[in-house]
Amino acid sequence: MPRIPLPAPAALDTKLSDILKRRRSAGFSGNPDIPTTLQELGTLLGLSLRARENAHRNYPSGGGLYPIETYLISTQIESETPAVFHYNPSIHALEKLWGLPSRFNIKDIAKHPNSLPLSTLIVFTSVWKRSSAKYGDLSYLHALLEAGHMSENLLLVGCALGLDVRPYAGFDDAVVARLLDLDEEEEQAVHSITLCKGGGIQESNTVHED
Ligand SMILES: Cc1cc2nc3c(=O)[nH]c(=O)nc-3n(C[C@H](O)[C@H](O)[C@H](O)COP(=O)(O)O)c2cc1C
Repeated sequence: MPRIPLPAPAALDTKLSDILKRRRSAGFSGNPDIPTTLQELGTLLGLSLRARENAHRNYPSGGGLYPIETYLISTQIESETPAVFHYNPSIHALEKLWGLPSRFNIKDIAKHPNSLPLSTLIVFTSVWKRSSAKYGDLSYLHALLEAGHMSENLLLVGCALGLDVRPYAGFDDAVVARLLDLDEEEEQAVHSITLCKGGGIQESNTVHED
């Protein structure tokens, strides 16, 4: 599948204590027509989720098994047509899976009608067997906890970058499973984050190259 290499993450010029004080879930005033740049995604996904050279990541995982995968359903990524992407944390790249259906409206992702603006839904799925082979039923808990750790990284980095990010459990499982072509016996969506820009609820933050 086509790979879109992401720029190296920019260093955040903000103290963690300041980011934590500023953090809040994005509201409803974002503009879904503003594209997210590859540099923003490179920083957001790279700092939050990328695998380090020693295979460790910036979030914990039960047994280091990393059962959670990350996908982006997006209508507005710089220079890309609306599509579904997989984030590959080992090579820090997006893998373009397929285009979104032509009549698809990203709001169709909501289980109930919703005015939350989004241009991208970042979806976490659990590949159950990766963890259940070792942990049995406990793998369910592990997967949810891991998705929570990953979410918090994304929410804090997103806040530092001035992006509008919001945890979002209100997605329609069937729609998301179809868009990602999931075999739900093996892999299921467990959580998601909406991404948008232009809401102006968080001050923008200065970043510089690492
Ligand atoms: C697991 C989880 C699921 C959430 N799902 C939704 C959702 O479906 N729709 C929504 O508008 N907000 C959702 N939120 C955001 C919460 O409404 C928000 O975190 C809460 O109102 C507190 O506001 P704050 O994050 O700005 O502190 C969710 C938050 C969490 C942690």
